Amino acid sequence: MALLLRAEELKGLISIEEAIAAVETGFRDQGEYPQFSLPRQRMMAGDRRINIHSGGCVNLSVAGTFVHYERHRYTKEDQSYGAAGKRVYMAYDSETAKLLTIIVGSLPLYDFDDNDIATETAITSAVGTKHLARQDCRVMGLYGTGRQARRHLKVMCALRPIETVKVFSRSADHRRAFCALMQPHIDAEIIPIDNPRAVATGADLVVCATGSNVPVLFGDWLEPGAHVTSIVGSNKELVAEGLVSKPRRELDDEVLARADVIVATLKQQAIQDEQGDVVEPIQNGIIKWDDVKELAQLVAGKVTGRTGERQITLFKQNSDQGVGFMALARLAHDKARAAGIGMEI
Ligand SMILES: NC(=O)c1ccc[n+]([C@@H]2O[C@H](COP(=O)([O-])OP(=O)(O)OC[C@H]3O[C@@H](n4cnc5c(N)ncnc54)[C@H](OP(=O)(O)O)[C@@H]3O)[C@@H](O)[C@H]2O)c1
Repeated sequence: MALLLRAEELKGLISIEEAIAAVETGFRDQGEYPQFSLPRQRMMAGDRRINIHSGGCVNLSVAGTFVHYERHRYTKEDQSYGAAGKRVYMAYDSETAKLLTIIVGSLPLYDFDDNDIATETAITSAVGTKHLARQDCRVMGLYGTGRQARRHLKVMCALRPIETVKVFSRSADHRRAFCALMQPHIDAEIIPIDNPRAVATGADLVVCATGSNVPVLFGDWLEPGAHVTSIVGSNKELVAEGLVSKPRRELDDEVLARADVIVATLKQQAIQDEQGDVVEPIQNGIIKWDDVKELAQLVAGKVTGRTGERQITLFKQNSDQGVGFMALARLAHDKARAAGIGMEI
């Protein structure tokens, strides 16, 4: 029998640490069986888009698809969700071939949040930080004050001994509200900053978790030894339809030029989506495709990450992948079975 779950039933059952460990295992599996997953597929008509993340993890006995639909708003400067339907995980047991679980909704991983959409994204970013950032990161610079910024703040503070967090987004009101909301949930001191350059100054971890379409982080701001995470993806379809003129960027070319190690969640995703933060620096002769490594290869120990304390590392978290969602579905299913929740179907 398969288990039908409402995501909210799982509240309190899955810790951030367990979610990171599951997604890490999923990516290690992808490093072993890359042919068992596809890049995220996206179909768009104007501001309507459907997203499908498919893949399987042999070592976790799970395979399937995660799907979500949304309307989004876009301007030349930024992009945001207009409306988003409930997300759905559909996972099979990859050994018995039986349907394992259907989970409706995003996993409720955060106690400060409505956990409505994309709760998994920061978990994928965390796997990159775990493998690339120095252990002694104490200062974090954070760009963005929205949903992803809140979640990235929480996961990064769970991974490294962060003492100070400097936060910037364009609106002073958003910065103040973010600090007031998040301070009770974080041991580190969170400080709103009105000068974006000052956020990266002295920062060991730099996280770009914005809805921006234009660079928010500039390479000459970075300190030696910093680890950078960036999550903005692509607007290829909007460019193709002539609705915007340029690919999205969250980083300038100099960030890529200064990075000693560049890892993307999946290279094929950058190619398929013509993602500006990866494709434009290659077109501009700043980096080569061979300079871009993949998360699965890094986690599986097939490529080298940071080799020095003063190296700058970059994780371009360029889309969550099916393997991560399926690893979480397996974890959620096993937790739900142990707790006796969900409906047998
Ligand atoms: N890689 C992945 O797997 C993945 C998955 C899901 C989502 N995403 C990306 O995550 C992005 C953010 O999603 P969200 O749910 O957090 O959106 P959100 O709640 O709307 O927040 C967006 C934030 O970006 C800030 N921002 C926009 N332009 C900025 C700029 N130039 N400089 C600094 N901050 C800026 C906004 O604050 P102000 O208005 O105050 O500037 C706001 O705090 C989405 O655009 C999406 O592309 C990536």
